[in-house]
Amino acid sequence: MCEHAFLDKIAREVGDSFYLFDEAAFRRNYLGLRGRLRQHWPGTDVAYALKANYMPALVACVADMQGQVEVVSRFEYDVARRFLLAERIIYNGPIKREADLRFALEAGSQVNLDSFAELESLARLAGELPRVRVGLRLNFPSSQLMSRFGFDVENGELDEALTHLEALPGVEVVALHCHATCRALGVEDPVRRIRRLCEVASRLLPTHPIETINIGGGLLGEMPASLRSQFSFPVPSLEEYADAIGEAFVHHRPSAVTRLVVEPGVSLVANTMCLAARVMEVRQRRDGWQALLDTSINAVNPTRSSVAPLLEAVSASRDEASQPQSLKLVGHTCMEHDVICKDFTAALQPGDFVLVKNRGAYSLNYTPPFIVPACGVVDLEGRVLKCADGEATILASYMQQLDAPQASQPASNNKENADHEHTFHLCR
Ligand SMILES: Cc1ncc(COP(=O)(O)O)c(C=O)c1O
Repeated sequence: MCEHAFLDKIAREVGDSFYLFDEAAFRRNYLGLRGRLRQHWPGTDVAYALKANYMPALVACVADMQGQVEVVSRFEYDVARRFLLAERIIYNGPIKREADLRFALEAGSQVNLDSFAELESLARLAGELPRVRVGLRLNFPSSQLMSRFGFDVENGELDEALTHLEALPGVEVVALHCHATCRALGVEDPVRRIRRLCEVASRLLPTHPIETINIGGGLLGEMPASLRSQFSFPVPSLEEYADAIGEAFVHHRPSAVTRLVVEPGVSLVANTMCLAARVMEVRQRRDGWQALLDTSINAVNPTRSSVAPLLEAVSASRDEASQPQSLKLVGHTCMEHDVICKDFTAALQPGDFVLVKNRGAYSLNYTPPFIVPACGVVDLEGRVLKCADGEATILASYMQQLDAPQASQPASNNKENADHEHTFHLCR
């Protein structure tokens, strides 16, 4: 599939770097995890965490699989609503304004409150809405489930929040949520959240109709051995996570009808995209050879993860036998730190490609429009799912009229150009 001729054809259409999206892999991940969890507990839902990658093709795919998504901002909520019924959207996140709360609650989404500020907004809404069913995001500092988000269960915050909520007419607490993760714990990480959330739910159940335990995300997904070996702990498979989560929930569940929700992001989407970047130049510097790629560290590793990227060279067939050599892979920004790999051994020449595997999560929508904005996306059949961003898409949100004269016109003999600086004026 990733032969040079195929990549070259796509590059001519969408630009010299682009993501290749494997929809079948996303479906496999989603359905595999949900199916395995449901073998343990049929009342389980998997809400794909949109922050990992909100590409519309993914959200449409979740809708097609009768799935759910999790969002953490009004922006993500609105993206999700284009494809999914409101009741299939779980709304978390630190800032939900009164209008956002009203919008999502009226529509029927599960909203998990994060703060006392949101409680105050809810108090203003409670009289207006006949019935309000909310969840609470929690954290448990002494169990290493510490977080800047949600209500602290141990210092009285949760009790204070419940007291506020109990005083509001028509308001019920129906869900408990926690996404304080420590991946190094392997399967014990989500299991701890299940234990702690179920304990609180059991305590609250006599007075609060808790229907859902939501353990957030934080799982790791399927990955090639060379990535897996870079973690300092054994990375569980999705089946191992599902078995541990399912068994723990069956054991600790606070009632026979409580639902379980998991909100995976990276584990569902990381292995569904690879980033292909054209080699623009290979040249010698004083400290060795370098290859310039038409991508940047901002796309390859925007979260500055310590896990080294998994790279593969795809070269055009050549007559002459070119020898592999050690190369520093550098990116297309003008920052000295834009180094994608310090030492990559391959026989690269201009026109070749470097593939960066497992770039589906926290990459495409995490890339800033710095110097070169985000690239396009195609599926494995070569269908374009997203065009590369460019001046038109990036400038669309700036409030200036885009009627500037072409820079190539001579400024001296052109009245409009003489007024050039005035043509970019605010239009409101
Ligand atoms: C509330 C919540 N749920 C789910 C996730 C998804 O996490 P991950 O991509 O690690 O699975 C996150 C990530 O930050 C989150 O904040």
